[in-house]
Amino acid sequence: MLDIDQIRRQIPALDKSIYMNTGGSGPMPRSAIDVIRDTYETAGTQGPDIPTVRGPIREQFEETRKTVARFFGVTPEEIALLRSVSEGLSTVAYGMDWSPGDEVIVTDEEHPSGIMIWLSLAEQKGIKVKKLRLVNDKTELLAGLDRLITGRTRLLCLSHVTTDTGTRLPAAEICSMAHDRGVPVAYDAAQSAGQFPIDLAAIDCDFYACTGHKWLLGGWGTGIFYVKREWVERLNISWTGSQAGTWDRDTDELQFADTAHRFEFGGRHDPLYNAMGNAIEFLDSTGLSEIEARVRVLTDRLKAGIAETSGVALRSPESPEFSTGIVTFSVNGLTGDDLNSQMWERWRVLGRAALKHSAMRLSTAFFTSDQEIDTVISAMGTLANENR
Ligand SMILES: Cc1ncc(COP(=O)(O)O)c(C=O)c1O
Repeated sequence: MLDIDQIRRQIPALDKSIYMNTGGSGPMPRSAIDVIRDTYETAGTQGPDIPTVRGPIREQFEETRKTVARFFGVTPEEIALLRSVSEGLSTVAYGMDWSPGDEVIVTDEEHPSGIMIWLSLAEQKGIKVKKLRLVNDKTELLAGLDRLITGRTRLLCLSHVTTDTGTRLPAAEICSMAHDRGVPVAYDAAQSAGQFPIDLAAIDCDFYACTGHKWLLGGWGTGIFYVKREWVERLNISWTGSQAGTWDRDTDELQFADTAHRFEFGGRHDPLYNAMGNAIEFLDSTGLSEIEARVRVLTDRLKAGIAETSGVALRSPESPEFSTGIVTFSVNGLTGDDLNSQMWERWRVLGRAALKHSAMRLSTAFFTSDQEIDTVISAMGTLANENR
């Protein structure tokens, strides 16, 4: 059983508001904040390139890669530390050869990071972007996907958990079906990583791109890119630079790293990644199964409150299998933006508008308290009554 009060004391932002926008940016634990602050304090006062300063920072960066790999059940050689989901998916997109008419399948609920790259390739290379309609029935969903895959399908690129409704896709079943048809799978993991245990070897996807600043509680500017071993040398190198491998000054010969490190280049903002590693350890020591179970209890309570309040509608999946901590709801007579601003101004509940501004998205995290859920339910009731 998690000690929620003790956990909350370790995340300083939680006593300032009812923080339910972890799907936007997650609040960092004190220990991760300290990594950034202490690193800058040391580098700023002693000199950033002094060997005893720089050396440990770099060593910690490689430890972070190992922490990330352990967290996702894969090897450090399959992990590149990039800056965002977009950067990871762009590495896939520009790493593959495309011909006009090649097809990529996305869902009908992608974040811009999960679709803009493909629409851009449609303009540049004439590829076709097809959209899978999401339904909260596994058999129907997989049947829909099966119908969309053709001999021209080159890649599935789907949100593991979608951004607006928090719908959790059956990631492993999708990979199994796609691989049977010879199609690789990339997941946008912005909303999944940190919400529940994720074993990438078991899911068997080919690429997994996430950001550190949401459910991983790791802070802005960090991204994680998993490339399955067999793809490391199959993806073409697109944009590149120093530290992705070696350059022989005499012969001009290039030798890229034979690991996912080849997709990581240029100077890195090491302290940010080291803070993210610290936050991942914080989640790991809390326990991802415990986190998932706690969120289920809270979202059940929230969804029951929504069901009992007339004028309020749940817009996220009801079925446990498709559900996550993201609970999106609408109130009759209010736009998502009205809802969001009233919730913030009157009750200090932080969420965000969703579903084309028709609803409000709440991110329920393991550190959310029972009382906060009750405040939110009561606020929904007040708003529904006022707008009857
Ligand atoms: C599903 C999803 N993908 C991607 C992102 C962000 O991507 P990036 O790291 O490229 O900013 C978000 C949220 O900002 C998201 O909800």
